[in-house]
Amino acid sequence: MIVCHCKSISDKDIHAAIDWMRAADAQAIITPGKVYRALGKSADCGGCMPLFLATMRTNDNVEVPPQLRHLRAGSTQESRTCKAIPRLSNT
Ligand code: FES
Repeated sequence: MIVCHCKSISDKDIHAAIDWMRAADAQAIITPGKVYRALGKSADCGGCMPLFLATMRTNDNVEVPPQLRHLRAGSTQESRTCKAIPRLSNT
């Protein structure tokens, strides 16, 4: 199925690019822009973006690597504290 008509990108192209990027780098954050670049193309009108993203989400390899999860503001203060820098005392 063609997902991007401007650049003739199919769902199989998108999955192949995602699988290739994940195989090359286990910690990569895979974005639509990176998929376009991996395919040697760039977005044109952007009209395909909802379907492009929906197609990407069906690929298990597009998930954020486990070690990079929980970095958002919603995570606990304890987990965001940098252990490498000691806290200054008030004395
Ligand atoms: S349909 Fe994909 S950029 Fe236009």
